[in-house]
Amino acid sequence: MLATKKYPTALPVKNFIQNGNTLEKFIKPQPIDHEIEIEPNSLLMSKTDLHGTIEYSNDYFIEVNGYQESELMGRTQNIIRHPDMPQIIFQMLWEHLQNHQNFSALIKNLAKDGRYYWVLAHFKIHNNQNNYEVGNYYAYRYAAPKTGVVEIEKLYKKLLEIEKQRGVEASKKYFVGFLEERAQSYEAYLNELTGHNRPIKRITKAIRNLFK
Ligand SMILES: Cc1cc2nc3c(=O)[nH]c(=O)nc-3n(C[C@H](O)[C@H](O)[C@H](O)COP(=O)(O)O)c2cc1C
Repeated sequence: MLATKKYPTALPVKNFIQNGNTLEKFIKPQPIDHEIEIEPNSLLMSKTDLHGTIEYSNDYFIEVNGYQESELMGRTQNIIRHPDMPQIIFQMLWEHLQNHQNFSALIKNLAKDGRYYWVLAHFKIHNNQNNYEVGNYYAYRYAAPKTGVVEIEKLYKKLLEIEKQRGVEASKKYFVGFLEERAQSYEAYLNELTGHNRPIKRITKAIRNLFK
């Protein structure tokens, strides 16, 4: 399940950001210990190309992250990557997407003003209608259940610590061992943290609303 394939955010780094009509130097926000409360049942949605470059985001995603729409378009999703997130989670995400599989994860994101927010994110592949090949990726994010965050924070802290000391390969091994100890798949573990089957129902509802 956890391969080491390099995922495609290693594109040339764009150091500039489009703010209205002006091009500004992009400076990664300095994280502050202040949480943004995500409204229950509200959706933070974005759509990317196959490199994770943002092509569309909904109003709530823009509002919560605090960027202007023009600042987000054309940038890769790692614009909101929080340094507390272990690399292995994104490695798993990209491996799933590249194998044409959807993926879900609890994610801590970084807003423009340095605040953070937790979401339960569902990443979905989307096929082109003309040739049925994968054309885009979608992310549907909802407020993360608090109890899930308390648990996953401990695990992410440990994974990050291992990554800093011994690299992503070592954190992958730890994560595999962690799941084996519980005799659980990643999916089952996530369901336990977030409430069984709720993600599926939410995705279905969100997609229905989008194409209404
Ligand atoms: C559709 C889609 C949505 C994504 N959403 C997020 C997100 O909300 N937060 C995040 O940190 N990374 C997100 N990513 C993953 C990023 O592209 C990137 O892999 C991650 O931020 C790690 O960045 P890094 O390789 O620079 O460390 C998303 C990727 C895709 C394809």
